[in-house]
Amino acid sequence: MQSPFETAPAASSIPIYFATKSTWAGIARELPAQAQQFALANDFTAKPGKLLTLPSPDGKIAQVIFGLEDETSKSRDLFRPGALPGLLPPGVYRFANAPHDARLATLAFALGCYRFGRYRKAEQPDVRLVPPDGIDIADINRMAEAASLARDLINTPSNDMGPEELASAAQALATRYGASFNAIVGDELTRQNFPLIHAVGMASTRAPRLIDLIWGEPDHPKVTLVGKGVCFDTGGLDLKPESAMLIMKKDMGGAATVLACAHMIMDAGLKVSLRVLIPAVENSVAGDAFRPLDVYPSRKGLNVEIGNTDAEGRLVLADALALADEEMPDLLVDMGTLTGAARVALGPELPPYYTDDETLAAEVARHAAAENDPLWRLPLWQRYDQNIDSKVADVNNVAAGGMAGSIICALFLKRFVSAAKSWLHFDIYAWTPSPKPGRPEGGECQAARALYALLKQRYGR
Ligand code: BES
Ligand code: MN
Ligand code: ZN
Repeated sequence: MQSPFETAPAASSIPIYFATKSTWAGIARELPAQAQQFALANDFTAKPGKLLTLPSPDGKIAQVIFGLEDETSKSRDLFRPGALPGLLPPGVYRFANAPHDARLATLAFALGCYRFGRYRKAEQPDVRLVPPDGIDIADINRMAEAASLARDLINTPSNDMGPEELASAAQALATRYGASFNAIVGDELTRQNFPLIHAVGMASTRAPRLIDLIWGEPDHPKVTLVGKGVCFDTGGLDLKPESAMLIMKKDMGGAATVLACAHMIMDAGLKVSLRVLIPAVENSVAGDAFRPLDVYPSRKGLNVEIGNTDAEGRLVLADALALADEEMPDLLVDMGTLTGAARVALGPELPPYYTDDETLAAEVARHAAAENDPLWRLPLWQRYDQNIDSKVADVNNVAAGGMAGSIICALFLKRFVSAAKSWLHFDIYAWTPSPKPGRPEGGECQAARALYALLKQRYGR
């Protein structure tokens, strides 16, 4: 995505005034009498999200007024200015006064410029912004570019985004930043001891693979990111109904999100030794599909009974987490679109995260709030762990009864992590069901900016 920001000082730019119900009268008073009259005639009251363009005497746009929630409003949306690119006429603009949070407003403006244009000419907004003073615009650009990368990967339908195409995307990112890239493909997964990734992916004509990207100085703190890359989730033999399947191109959202994280980490040159692992598979139906009641070994050595073929994400993550864990990373993070239960609990825009590291948990919460990348901690409730005990194997991939589904999934994954100094798990949605300012409908990059901000604070240059 092209940056919407003017880097050279613009000869002229149209001022955008942010107004709220309570500040509007004061702002209006400073405007030329004719502009005040025009606003009055338009019955403009600075309702949040409402835009008014004021004409100059020669019929050009002299100013823009944009309504925001009051400073004290409980439903204040710090990304409100993300609606501007979709509302403004073509032109070069600047902020004439301060929105609630200038950095987040600038970021939202960039995020709001995103359009998915792969299959038809998208109505890309023809707007540019002179960034406000004191904003690290390079950092804004890398966050917006990362989000755009994740959104494109998620929005691309599965016929053009299978395991191989996902690997190509990771490889392109690796090449751009001089990272090393490797992929273990098909039956080689069995030979190199990734039985679960192979089991889930083998029914598809598109070979499963484990994508591996490595970057940074080996003596820097080791941070490993693992992302669920299920390029389409039919549910397998436990087939999903059509309504549930209709969104499953997004089931590689965890993979897209860790790639977005990697983009930001490498572009900012954080002092980490980074590894990105993506088990990329398609959960298909065929004669050789894995079945309910099958038992498979895993890389960790635990035998796993399949209670449900639709709980496939945790299976592929388990083998990738086990590999990551062997290196005893300082921080091991995984992300995936793992459960519908997380959505039932917290809805589409508030993904849960899990960790036993209290310091880390507090840091995540703080950065999630500061970056307007909402996240909510749920517990690794150990008393539920027995619910995934299997009668024939070491562990079942689901619990009977179906309660606390997102916690159960987290507890399953926890069994495959033992040596990492700290482990953090996100059960993301990776999708915006109805458009919001700065968040167009479709694929969404969740938790990546919060994690990046956390890593930047810990390991920034
Ligand atoms: N990819 C789905 C989870 C999902 C469903 C995410 C809907 C977002 C929206 C995952 O593979 C899955 O199917 N999970 C099952 C687990 C169940 C079988 C224990 C689910 O949530 O129904
Ligand atoms: Mn599934
Ligand atoms: Zn899935």
